[in-house]
Amino acid sequence: MSTLTNGSGPVPADAFAHPSKPHLESNGLSAFENYKRLHEQSIKNPSEFWGSLARDLLTWSKDFDIVRRGSLERGDLSWFLGGELNACYNCVDRHAFATPDKVALIYEADEPEHGRVLTYDDLLREVCQLSYVLKDMGVKKGDTVAIYMPMVPEAIIALLACVRIGAVHSVIFAGFSSDSLRDRINDAKCKVVLTANESKRGGKTHAIKHIVDKALVECPAVTSVLVFKRTESEVQWIPGRDHWWQEAVKKWPAYIAPERMNAEDPLFLLYTSGSTGKPKGVLHSTGGYLVGAAATGKYVFDIHDSDSFFCGGDIGWITGHTYVVYAPLLLGVSTIVFEGSPMYPNPSRYWNIIDKHNVSHFYVAPTALRLLKKSGDQHVTGDRAHLRVLGSVGEPIAPEVWKWYFEVVGKGQAQIVDTYWQTETGSHVIAPLAGATPTKPGAASFPFFGIEPAILDAATGEEIDGANVEGVLAFKQAWPSMARTVWGAHDRYMDTYLRPFKGYYFSRPTQNSQYTGDGASRDKDGFYWIGGRMDDIINVSGHRISTAEIEAALIEDFTVAEAAVVAVQDEITGQASVAFLTLKDHRAVTPEIRDELILQVRRTIGPFAAPRRIYVVDDLPKTRSGKIMRRVLRKILAGEQDQLGDTSTLSDPTVVERIIAAVQAGP
Ligand code: WTA
Repeated sequence: MSTLTNGSGPVPADAFAHPSKPHLESNGLSAFENYKRLHEQSIKNPSEFWGSLARDLLTWSKDFDIVRRGSLERGDLSWFLGGELNACYNCVDRHAFATPDKVALIYEADEPEHGRVLTYDDLLREVCQLSYVLKDMGVKKGDTVAIYMPMVPEAIIALLACVRIGAVHSVIFAGFSSDSLRDRINDAKCKVVLTANESKRGGKTHAIKHIVDKALVECPAVTSVLVFKRTESEVQWIPGRDHWWQEAVKKWPAYIAPERMNAEDPLFLLYTSGSTGKPKGVLHSTGGYLVGAAATGKYVFDIHDSDSFFCGGDIGWITGHTYVVYAPLLLGVSTIVFEGSPMYPNPSRYWNIIDKHNVSHFYVAPTALRLLKKSGDQHVTGDRAHLRVLGSVGEPIAPEVWKWYFEVVGKGQAQIVDTYWQTETGSHVIAPLAGATPTKPGAASFPFFGIEPAILDAATGEEIDGANVEGVLAFKQAWPSMARTVWGAHDRYMDTYLRPFKGYYFSRPTQNSQYTGDGASRDKDGFYWIGGRMDDIINVSGHRISTAEIEAALIEDFTVAEAAVVAVQDEITGQASVAFLTLKDHRAVTPEIRDELILQVRRTIGPFAAPRRIYVVDDLPKTRSGKIMRRVLRKILAGEQDQLGDTSTLSDPTVVERIIAAVQAGP
């Protein structure tokens, strides 16, 4: 089987083991022919296409009257108007009624011997009890609830309890610092925070309640904190405000009816990096998001009833929302909730989990794959017999990593799906459909249903047609799971995504017009290849962070005059940040100052954002209008000082020589 990747042509999708046959294989057509036919229909007749899919995949308490309204140009899209449904009912109740004993959540604790399993029946009970607790804390329909939790089943229960009572969840990745948490809680005006006393990952314990306590000093609106007792450690306690989770849920009965929600009611907020430094609360709506999650789960991953889905993403990011929680639960299969790290207690952890739970689908970011590949093939243990689909997400996957994933992990018997999407798109937009789409190592391949990609010339905004072309990626047609707005800043939403190129959604999570979005190309066979970001958003271990946020954190330190942060490639984390700084009063840098600056970023944003290297220089390369030319810094770091391009616009071209010397001298 491994010879499949040796030729230059695509790997055919029907070469893989399948328990029955792919959902798309029907009407005497091959699955790929069916994809092409359905894709065409979805573009020509989106209302008809999405209307029937929405009725097929979800249970509506009231059918919708209109499938789609509005336009990309006006930024007023709404879907499934008049329809009513509850997200939790769709994820839990309907399966708890039909197949109560089916496993819903498989918790793999950080310690391999711990963990537990919850059936759909268990899940319904636990979600209902927590729903009561939230109501008792005064949470009402439309209120926003902050969730700052480790990857334990209670985190998933928390999301579901919020949406059951019509509250909007705002999950904040538990690796964010207290300052980041504070800003997100305040922006969304959360009154209730759900957390744990401590979290565990890779054998280490983190005092996350302590981080919440620090954040809440400056969150006057928060009245209640519910604390899941993950470890036995005692924590600081504010009586009246803090409540133990396990005590609180015991007080309430096992069923509470789900709230009827309109299709366009907000489902959740997820804060994500933008280039201005201030994170944006991306808002997803109920009906459209759920249709996108269920449709991509069914067709991209080709999920079938008996499957066991393992997404290694954290619920703090969109991947965890859509593919740990919503897609698998909407489709009524078992989803793995993995608390730990792929390296703990040893680099076989993922493969042990896969064998232990007969996992059919495994989905992670290339950063984890690079790390595991580097640790050596001897750690890829077990028979991984049930694996059918291997997904990749969050950053480009290099062809050699793709091949390793295919040959070593999948033993040439599982299909690789490289899925391209964003927090803002809600679910996959460009991805192969397992069992249907032929694949090429490193290509995200073809658009999902209803998605009409366009490659634009960044300078002119002209669409570039044909084969073998490249430019920036945009989308010509709206789809149900696209974000509806940026919380409390609709104009920012328009400026960021919909105004740069009229009539298109632009793949650019930044606001500043000097930057472009995701680079993409279309090859001679029509496959889409996603390049790295062409702007100032960097991707560290699959975590999206803006260089402007890191710069802002550095500048807060009283010693720093100016900061420019750029990305470099890193073998393991994909990208890493490197900071160039000038210090106030031209003071000299000391090891203490350097440590303090790293700490400053860890404190302000979170440990994952800390710069890999810091260079202190006497000036930064700036244009006469004062704009920092980060391109010059990137080229110097790449050792391409002979390809700096036009530096005549620099106010002081001699600064380049001094920066080159500083980089050569080392940080
Ligand atoms: C990048 C993560 C290449 C891209 C789901 C995008 C990718 C950003 C891929 C969104 C992929 C995501 N190949 N690049 N398959 N998937 N990206 O919002 O730059 O955390 O704009 O969503 O990740 O990051 P976000």
